[in-house]
Amino acid sequence: MKTALRILGVLVVLVVLAALAFIYVPVKTTPPNEDLASDWKPELGRGEYVMRAGDCMACHTAEGGSPLAGGRGIASPMGTIWSSNITPDKETGIGNWTLDQFRAAMVDGVVNGKHLYPAMPYENYRFMSESDIRALYSYLMNDVKPVKNEVQATELDFPFNLRFGIRAWNWLALTGDSAFKPMDGNEQQIRGQYLVEGAGHCAACHSPRSALMAQDGTRLGDANFLTGGELDGWNVSALRGSNSSIENWSTADLAAYLATGRNVHSIANGEMALAVEHSLQYLNDQDLNAIAIFLKSMDGQPIQDAPKQVAAPGPHAMPPRPANEAGLATAKLLTAASPDMPLGARLYLDNCAGCHFVTGKGASEIFPELQGNAMVLGKDPSPLVSTILNGTSVPSTSRRPMHLVMQGYSDRLSDEEVATLASFVRSAWGNKAGEVTPDQVAKVRSANQH
Ligand code: HEC
Ligand code: HEC
Ligand code: HEC
Repeated sequence: MKTALRILGVLVVLVVLAALAFIYVPVKTTPPNEDLASDWKPELGRGEYVMRAGDCMACHTAEGGSPLAGGRGIASPMGTIWSSNITPDKETGIGNWTLDQFRAAMVDGVVNGKHLYPAMPYENYRFMSESDIRALYSYLMNDVKPVKNEVQATELDFPFNLRFGIRAWNWLALTGDSAFKPMDGNEQQIRGQYLVEGAGHCAACHSPRSALMAQDGTRLGDANFLTGGELDGWNVSALRGSNSSIENWSTADLAAYLATGRNVHSIANGEMALAVEHSLQYLNDQDLNAIAIFLKSMDGQPIQDAPKQVAAPGPHAMPPRPANEAGLATAKLLTAASPDMPLGARLYLDNCAGCHFVTGKGASEIFPELQGNAMVLGKDPSPLVSTILNGTSVPSTSRRPMHLVMQGYSDRLSDEEVATLASFVRSAWGNKAGEVTPDQVAKVRSANQH
C-alpha cells in the first residue's frame, strides 16, 4: 500500500513537472525566412498593399471604430475573441514592438511568450515572406495613426481561457514547417499560390475544419485544401474539384468576382462580400489574375489566359442569355405560365422572374445566375433561405461603384411558401439539390429576429 502511494506521489510530481515545463519552457519563435540587409526598405506603398492583401482592417477595426484600433468581436465556438489594437500607440497598441515581436505574432501566433488564439489567422500568415512582413511592420509603425484604445479582454470559459493549451494545439494543428513551397508552375501561378496560401488566408474559410477546429488543408498538396468549409453554420464554396461552381468560370470571370464581388455567374455575399470590400478590391490586376490563374490550374488543368485589365469598365451591353439545354424545360414551364403549374414555379414567376428571368440566367453582374449557383445548390440551404427572407446587398467597389440590393420577402412569403420556392429553385434548370422544409425556413427566420 505504502509503495503504491509512493509511486502515485512520484507520478503526480512528474505530471506537475511536465505541465510546468510545458507552460514555462520558453516558446521558440521562427527566424526570418529571407536574409534582408538591416537597412532594407520596402518600396513605397508595399506595406499598405500587404495590409490590404491580408485584410487586417476587417478584423482589427471595430464597427464605427478607428482603423486598426481593434475591439471587434470575432465569434468562435468557444466564445467571443476581441481583436487587438495594432496601431502604433505605445500604451494600448503595438508602438513598442520590435520587428522580431511582430514576426512572432504573425508567424507563430506568439506575443511575449503568450499564445494568440487562432482567430488571428497565423495558420496562414506563417507562409508570408520576410520582406512582406517587414513592409507590413514598417507600414503599421510609421504610416498608421496611433490610436489610444484599450481593447476589451477576451475571457473564454475554462479550459479555453488557458492560453498555454494553444501551444499543444499548435503542435498538432500546424503541420510541417512554415516555409512557402512554390508549386511546379510559372511565375504567375506561384504568385497566386503565395497570395492564396499566405496573406489572402483563403483556407481560413474555404478549407474544412479538423476535429481540433484547425484548418484541414492550409496549402497546395494538402488533400482538403480549399475543398469547401463552413462559417457560422453557412457553407463556404469549394474552390477546386469537379463539384465547385468555379470549375465552369473563366479566369476572367473569377478575377472579376474577386475585384468587384460580381460577375456573369454569381455575387459575393456575407463574409465574401466583406473580403472583397476590405481586401481584394485593392489588389492590382496582375495579382487578381495571378490568384484566378492559380485557382483554375492548381490541379494540373491547362492555364487559361487572363485579360490584361480585370473587370474592364463598361458600358456593358447586356446580351440576352437564352436558356441552355439543361434549363430549357424549366424556362418553357415558366413561359407557358399555365394556371395549374406547381406552386414553387408560380411563386418564382410572381416574385423572382422579373430579375432572375425564366431562364434562371439573370443579367451579367447585376442579377446573379441561379442555374448552377453555389449558394442555391449549397448542402445547407440556410444562405439561400436567408437571401429570400432578408434580401442581401453587394458593396460598391472602385471598379464597380454601383451598390446592388435585393429586397427580402419575409413579410410576403410564409415558411411553407419559402420552402416550396427554395425547393423549386434548387431543382430548376437542371439544378440538383435537396428539398427545403418549412422547419428549416422557420429556423433561419427566427435566427434573424434576434
Ligand atoms: C480573421 C480575423 C483577423 C485577421 C484577418 C487579422 N487578425 Fe490579427 N488578430 C485577430 C484577433 C482576434 C487577435 C487577438 C487574438 C487573441 O487575443 O489571442 C489578433 C491579434 C493580432 C496581433 C497581436 C496583438 C497583441 O497586442 O497581442 C497582431 C500583431 C495582429 N493581430 C496583426 C494582424 C495583422 C498585421 C493582420 C493582417 C495581415 C491581421 N492581424 C489580420 C484577428 C485577425
Ligand atoms: C472570411 C471568410 C472568407 C475568406 C477569408 C475568403 N472567402 Fe471566399 N467565400 C466566402 C463565403 C462565405 C463565400 C460564399 C459567398 C456567397 O454565398 O455569396 C465565398 C465565395 C467565394 C467564391 C465564389 C464561389 C462560388 O462558387 O460562387 C470565390 C471564387 C471565393 N470565395 C474566392 C476566395 C479567395 C480566392 C479567397 C482568398 C483570397 C477567399 N475567397 C477568402 C468566405 C471567405
Ligand atoms: C428586383 C430584382 C430582384 C428580384 C425580384 C429578386 N432578386 Fe434575387 N437578387 C437580385 C440582386 C440585385 C441580387 C444581387 C445582390 C446580392 O446577391 O447581394 C440578387 C441575389 C440573389 C441570390 C444570391 C445569388 C448569389 O450568387 O449569391 C439569390 C439566391 C436570389 N437572388 C434569389 C432570388 C429569389 C429566389 C427571388 C424571388 C423570391 C429573387 N431573388 C428576387 C435582384 C432580385
